[in-house]
This record gives sequence, structure tokens and C-alpha cells, in this order.
Amino acid sequence: MTLQRKLLVGFALMVVPTLFVGVQAIRTNALERATLEALGQRLARSRTYADVEDAMFNQTQVIWRYLSGDPAAKREFPLTEQVVGYWLDRWTAGLPPDEVKHAEGVRQIEADIRAVAARVFKLHDAGQRDAAALIARRELVERLQPTLARVNREIYRQARELSVQGAVTQMQAIVEAKRRVLWGTGLLALVAGLLASWLIARDLARPLNQLRQAMAVVGAGDLDHAIVPSSADEIGELARAFARMTEQLRQSRAQLVQSEKLASIGQMAAAVAHGLRNPLASLRAAAQLARHRVDAPAAREQLDAIVEQVDRLDVRIAHLLQFSRPAPFHPLRESVRTLVEGALSGFAELLRLRGIELVLRFAEAVPDVRVDPMRLEQALTEIVSNALDAMSPPAGGRLEIGAHVATGDAGGGGSGAGVVIDITDSGCGIPAEILPNLCEPFFTTRSEGTGLGLAIAQRYVEEAGGRLEITSVVGRGTTVRIWLPVASRDPVPAPQGTLA
Ligand SMILES: Nc1ncnc2c1ncn2[C@@H]1O[C@H](COP(=O)(O)OP(=O)(O)OP(=O)(O)O)[C@@H](O)[C@H]1O
Ligand SMILES: [Mg+2]
Repeated sequence: MTLQRKLLVGFALMVVPTLFVGVQAIRTNALERATLEALGQRLARSRTYADVEDAMFNQTQVIWRYLSGDPAAKREFPLTEQVVGYWLDRWTAGLPPDEVKHAEGVRQIEADIRAVAARVFKLHDAGQRDAAALIARRELVERLQPTLARVNREIYRQARELSVQGAVTQMQAIVEAKRRVLWGTGLLALVAGLLASWLIARDLARPLNQLRQAMAVVGAGDLDHAIVPSSADEIGELARAFARMTEQLRQSRAQLVQSEKLASIGQMAAAVAHGLRNPLASLRAAAQLARHRVDAPAAREQLDAIVEQVDRLDVRIAHLLQFSRPAPFHPLRESVRTLVEGALSGFAELLRLRGIELVLRFAEAVPDVRVDPMRLEQALTEIVSNALDAMSPPAGGRLEIGAHVATGDAGGGGSGAGVVIDITDSGCGIPAEILPNLCEPFFTTRSEGTGLGLAIAQRYVEEAGGRLEITSVVGRGTTVRIWLPVASRDPVPAPQGTLA
């Protein structure tokens, strides 16, 4: 899992309890609102019932007014019936089932009042005023009004219980539920927080700590310290990148040590070589002088051998000095043909003696190159010398040197316009496994070689901004390809066919 995902999971775990608290708050709020609404409705119904009670009281008052001699009261009575009916309908609309029986009781009392009023009005109108007053007192005052008072008490008691007490009970239940949920949420937050902290500590802090320790060890110079990435996330990737960087550092340090070693060997070799040159020159002069003075053929042969060996040693010393103390680089514009011919000038006799066929193939209008001519001739000389060594007598062979404008795929790795020089021999070839080592200083397979020829050639070619590549097939021959950049003022002609 990536670090980003782990962090998301960790924080999500911490957010869950807050979410619970939020949901619970919304739910509790809805419950409280419903409870308050129910309370409000019940209180409103109680107010409506008070109006019913008032209307019924007024109704009985109308009867008494009639009995006490107010004739208009009888005409008012139907109005009071309407008023009582109106308030009764409002009160009973939407009445909860447990209060319906009270509504029926009240309606019954109202019906009785109307019946009593009818009888009282009738007796009174018939002139039986005492009987009317008696019925009114007995029915209204002694029977119906106490019954109504009882029903009223019951209705108000129930209203009190259901509205206020019910609301209190419901609120208590809500508060209790809230308390439980808050406790639960608190515990959940604790667990989630601990879990998230553990996850973050395990997946973030620990690998970072390991990496920091590894960095401290590597920083102190121990580049061999093993860095093992412990996770597959971004920190693991960081650890892998650090391991790669350490490996590269280790390699460059090894290379640095190697080059320092080579530099000191080179310096020592140059000092020794320099010291040997003068005694060798004296030895050669003495041997040549002695050769002129002796007549015995055997002795002359020995002296010739001494001169030849001294010359060979001189070549080796020259190599060593060139490699360890190269002269300053002086680039000039030069034609490729001139360079190749200059390099070949010293080999004419050797080519003839070894029976090697030389083929030159220069394309038309090969542009000039910008090189240090002395050094590039030296590089070509080393390559030709190796080719001749590879075509040892009596087999002979064929040495082919060609030059043409580099096409896109001509290799060399150079950018911009270039010229390619191919030196191909039909010699013994080079095994693939040693191909990468050929240009290393002091690498040689020849007993009399110093192993510096190709190292010098490569250095001189690269110094001029070029590249050197070697391809070879054992038993068929070798091609050394040199890519050189064109001298800047030359227009680059399109590649053309080659000429002998
Ligand atoms: N054309 C070639 N054919 C076959 N082998 C070659 C050729 N060119 C180079 N080599 C191999 O590459 C090795 C290194 O060549 P390099 O010129 O650096 O050294 P060297 O020729 O052995 O010694 P010297 O310092 O005298 O040139 C040679 O010893 C040889 O094995
Ligand atoms: Mg050589």
C-alpha cells in the first residue's frame, strides 16, 4: 500500500468517531424537535378544551338567565349550542385514541344539557316555573355540572401527564441515549486514535528512522552498509533510491582509487622510463659503433640484435611517456587523407615484407576534421600497428582503410556532422570477452606489448571530440571505427559511393 493510502486510512480512522458524534447530534436534535412539537400540540389542545369548558359554562348560564326572567336568553341558546359544537369539533379533531373516551363523555354531557334546557324551557313556557327551576337545579347543578367537573379534572390530569411528563420522560430517554453514544464514541475515538497512531508509527516513523540511521552510517563513510527497504511504499522507494546512490558512490570511489593507483604507477613508470632513455641511447650508439669495427658475421648479428632490442625498448618507453605525460592539445583543421597517409608512411616497408595488401577507400569530398594532427596520426599508427601484428607472416592479409561522411546510423555516438574512418584487417580477430578491455591501459595479449597503444589512440580520438569503437570476429578480422567531428566551416555533403 502506498504511503498516501496509509495516511488516508489512518486519518479516516480518526475521523470516524467525529462522524458518529455528528450523526448522533443530528438524530438527537430531530428527536428533541419532535418531542417539543408533540408537547406544543398537547398544550394547544388543552387550550382548546378550556374554550369548550367556557362555552358549556356560558350555555348553562343562558338557561339560568332565562329562568330568572330574561326572555332573550332562550333565543341565544341555539347560538351557544353552535359555539359549543364548534369548540368540541376543534378539540376532538386529531385527538389521540386514549383521549377519545373523554370526548364521548363530554359530548354526552352536552347532549344532556341540551335535553335539560329543552325540558326547562318547555316547563317554564307552560307556566310551571317552580318545576322548571327544580329540574334545572337537580339536573344541571346536582348531576351534570359535577359530572362535567370530574371529566374536566380527568382531562386536565391526563393532559398534564401526557404533555409535560411525557415530554420530560422522552427528553430523559434522549439524554440517556446521548450519554451512551458519547461514551461509546469516546471509547471508539480512543481505539481508533491508538490504531491510527500505531499504523503511522509502524509504517512511517520506523522505516524513516531506519533510513536515517542508514544515512548516518553511509555518511560516516561505510559505503558497504546494507540498506534493505522494509516497505513497498514511497519510503521503500526512497530507501531503494538511496541504496542505488550508495552503490554508485561505492563504484565511483573504487574507480577513483583505481585511477589514483594508475596515476601513481604512471608517474613511477614515467620516471623509470625517462631514466632509462639516455643509457639506452648510449648502449645503441656503442653497439652500432662496435658493429662497424667487427668483421665476424656472428658477432655482427649479435650486435644487430642488440640494436633491434634497444629500438623496441625505446618504442615502449615512448609509449609510457606519451601516456603519462601527454603534450598539450593543439587542434587544427586537417584533411583525413593527409592524416591516414601520414600514419601509413612508416609502414610501407613492413607491409611489403609481410605481403599485406593495402586498400584505401576514400569517399568523394570527405570534409576536413578538427584534430591535433600529430596525435591523430599517432592514434592511427597504433591502430595500423595492431592490425599488422594481427596479420603475422607468413599468412599476410589485407588492410583496408576507408573514410566517409557519417550518416545518422554511422555510430560513434557523436552529435552533429562527422567523418568515419574504418581500419579493417583480415587478421586473427579478437574474442568477444576481451573486447571491452582493449582500451584499458596496460591491457595486452602480446608478450612484447605494453598495452598502451589503444589506450593512447582512444584518448587522442576522444580529446578531439570523437569516438572509437572496435568490432571483431575471431578468425576473420577486426574493424576499428573512428568517428570525428567535421571542422566547423565545412558544408557537409550528402553521403556518396566510395572510390578506390
Ligand atoms: N587489430 C587487432 N587484431 C587483433 N587483436 C588486436 C587488434 N588490435 C588490438 N588487439 C588486441 O588488443 C590488445 C591491446 O592493444 P594495444 O595496442 O593497446 O596494446 P598492445 O598492442 O598489446 O601493446 P602496445 O602498447 O605495443 O600497442 C592487444 O594486445 C591485442 O590483443
Ligand atoms: Mg598496439
